[in-house]
Amino acid sequence: MGTDNHTPLRLGMVGGGKDAFIGAVHRLACRLDDSFILTAGALSSTPEKSVASARELGLAPERSYGTWQQMLDGELKRPRVERIDAVTIVTPNHTHAAIARAFAEAGIPVACDKPLTSTLADAQTLAAAVEKSKTPFCVSYNYTGYPMVRHAAHLVRTGAIGAVRKCFVEYHQGWLATKLEDAGQKQAAWRNDPAQAGGGGAIGDIGSHAENLLSTVTGLEIEQVAADLTSFVPGRKLDDDAAVFIRMSGTAKATLTVCQVAIGEENNLTLRIHGDKGSLWWRQEEPNHLTVATLDGMTKVLARGSGFQSPADSASRLPPGHPEGFIEAFANIYKGFAQTVRGFNAGKPTPGEHPGIHDGLRGVRFVDAVVRSGKNNSVWTSLDGR
Ligand SMILES: NC(=O)c1ccc[n+]([C@@H]2O[C@H](COP(=O)([O-])OP(=O)(O)OC[C@H]3O[C@@H](n4cnc5c(N)ncnc54)[C@H](O)[C@@H]3O)[C@@H](O)[C@H]2O)c1
Repeated sequence: MGTDNHTPLRLGMVGGGKDAFIGAVHRLACRLDDSFILTAGALSSTPEKSVASARELGLAPERSYGTWQQMLDGELKRPRVERIDAVTIVTPNHTHAAIARAFAEAGIPVACDKPLTSTLADAQTLAAAVEKSKTPFCVSYNYTGYPMVRHAAHLVRTGAIGAVRKCFVEYHQGWLATKLEDAGQKQAAWRNDPAQAGGGGAIGDIGSHAENLLSTVTGLEIEQVAADLTSFVPGRKLDDDAAVFIRMSGTAKATLTVCQVAIGEENNLTLRIHGDKGSLWWRQEEPNHLTVATLDGMTKVLARGSGFQSPADSASRLPPGHPEGFIEAFANIYKGFAQTVRGFNAGKPTPGEHPGIHDGLRGVRFVDAVVRSGKNNSVWTSLDGR
């Protein structure tokens, strides 16, 4: 059982088998600071592929499970000192709720990818179960792990740009410009199937990241949305484009757009925040810099790793000019989660910096409200607070 800061914690993984996308990123990220070591897995949707995927990754045969239920049972039977310290869930959205709930109720800390669940009812049930169990929970909204995003949040909290007035958050991609879901591309297939993805297409897949970035950096709550959702690709079952007007707590407003049919766009997540004393700009494709403008006419470009006396300093590993990126930001989420898990193991709660169950629930409430507004002629719609 890992309690010290040196021994890597043992991680089980559900999903992330052969040909999967984000599981491999999680495996790199969790190792970067020796936070976790992959020890067990139920890596795929069939037992055969799960075991074959585990073999490729060098997992011990007795911890190469056919299903996540077998992994839960098998790990609970092990002495506490050998058992996995946490599980990470990197399966399609509709499977998250049952897996996360079972592990959380068994007292095994959970890291789950976004969106937390495919329905609001599932998210509410899961959040209640997690709260009751008091098991640590992380949702891998990895973009909040970037040092310059954390510094932006610090600047907003410390008043550098004054009261937030207007925000623009955009997440634009082009990979779904054709009907890839009919061409045997499995990531496109489940993302465009309402039974697996949930009620939101692009808004659930990347809009959930945009919502989390906006909410995390501003510290404000999204209260109401008015949304226009489009499926540009003929026959597509879910939205591949959304434009959302947002009313936030206080008087702040935001505009959020997502698009997955913007040919030429790669992973263009951009946040702009305008306050009554200044503004901030950050772009995921240039994540090592943050631009800050103030009322006195000064515009500065801040470079990651330059020592701003900010909580974000510890999120950098290299001096400025040595680019850090996606994996390092992801690793910061795992680093924070490892701290939480170590505190849990030691019986001394010491929460690390990472998004938790409430971020996950808020994200699903946002997607649910956007979809309801979109289906109701873009009428202003409150987030369901139940
Ligand atoms: N944080 C991010 O930046 C990010 C990026 C991509 C995907 N995601 C999220 O990660 C999740 C997975 O997305 P992906 O693109 O990697 O999908 P994927 O289709 O590439 O991989 C899903 C994996 O889950 C496995 N799987 C399905 N059902 C399973 C089950 N019952 N038990 C065990 N394994 C099972 C599949 O076999 C596959 O290996 C989604 O929730 C997605 O929204 C997050």
